[in-house]
Amino acid sequence: MPLRQSSLPQRIRLFEMAPRDGLQNEPGAMVPTETKIELIHRLAKAGIRHIEAASFVSPKWVPQMGDAVEVMRGIRREPGVVYSALTPNLQGLENALAAGIDEVAVFGAASESFSQKNINCSIAESLKRFEPVLSRAQEADVRVRGYVSCVLGCPYEGDIAPQSVAQVARALHDMGCYEISLGDTIGVGTPLAAKRMIEAVGHEVPVDQLAAHFHDTYGMAIANLYAVMEEGVSVIDAATAGLGGCPYAKGASGNVATEDVLYLLEGLGIETGINLEAVLETGYWITSQLGRKPGSKVALARGGCPK
Ligand code: HMG
Ligand code: MG
Repeated sequence: MPLRQSSLPQRIRLFEMAPRDGLQNEPGAMVPTETKIELIHRLAKAGIRHIEAASFVSPKWVPQMGDAVEVMRGIRREPGVVYSALTPNLQGLENALAAGIDEVAVFGAASESFSQKNINCSIAESLKRFEPVLSRAQEADVRVRGYVSCVLGCPYEGDIAPQSVAQVARALHDMGCYEISLGDTIGVGTPLAAKRMIEAVGHEVPVDQLAAHFHDTYGMAIANLYAVMEEGVSVIDAATAGLGGCPYAKGASGNVATEDVLYLLEGLGIETGINLEAVLETGYWITSQLGRKPGSKVALARGGCPK
């Protein structure tokens, strides 16, 4: 009998993070707004249908995302593509709505210390802060995604109990977030820990409303994704060229590379509707703009430049 991957999802929805998570931590000179816009255009052209395009956070906290309005106003909208942005509070949401955002995201954490460092408040305060964001977004008919950071470890506290992740995920879900993205912010997780975390969260939030947002600091993201797909997770966050990191999680590398996720999924016969070659070219292009090599293993294996 042929081997079958029957426990894996048949289709994966990939949520592209490069314009936001990918560029929010970029050191040195600001990435020009036109480059961000061009990146978003290329990603949409490659067949990506969900793009986190900007972040309406305080520019004092994250100057790299200070041109969110210009980015959103500058992009040519591809039909069928959802353009999303981070909105930490009502001020961010109002700015995002005025800029014509399709969807927004609030972001909390399973670690108290990370919550303080990242958004300057406790977990409980953050959840209170998100309530009016959810109400206002619902009024505007805009869907809200919820992130939980530090689901497999915290840069300040170390191990995080799966139960703490489940509690925050449940609170965001109950508040009305349509999907909860579980962030291994510092990329320290391993497959069994990832499975245990999904099991705990799955008791509180249906697994088909969970997404995996794994950074690849320790090179475990692909293995962890395979593990959580076996548990039924069918939405994956990834950044072309493996760009990025979080300014409030020192040493953390970028998201798992979109190219590497697509290579894995193609090998498993799982559909995404995305053209790997076009994403590879986009990865070469954006890293040449940034003056570095792609963080994607597949891109490096192909020689670091277009065929
Ligand atoms: P705060 O300083 O406590 O805010 O920051 P505040 O309400 O006291 O306001 C202070 C000033 O900020 C005021 O201006 C506000 O107008 C302004 P002033 O009167 O001093 O001139 N302000 C804003 N300006 C523009 N847009 C806004 C906004 N809000 C306030 N939305 C705040 C609190 C949450 C705003 C701040 O901590 C912040 O912006 N943090 C964002 C940090 C961040 O972006 N981190 C990276 C993204 S999260 C991530 O990467 C993890 C993820 O990928 C998942 C994973 O990997 O785990 C999602
Ligand atoms: Mg992230």
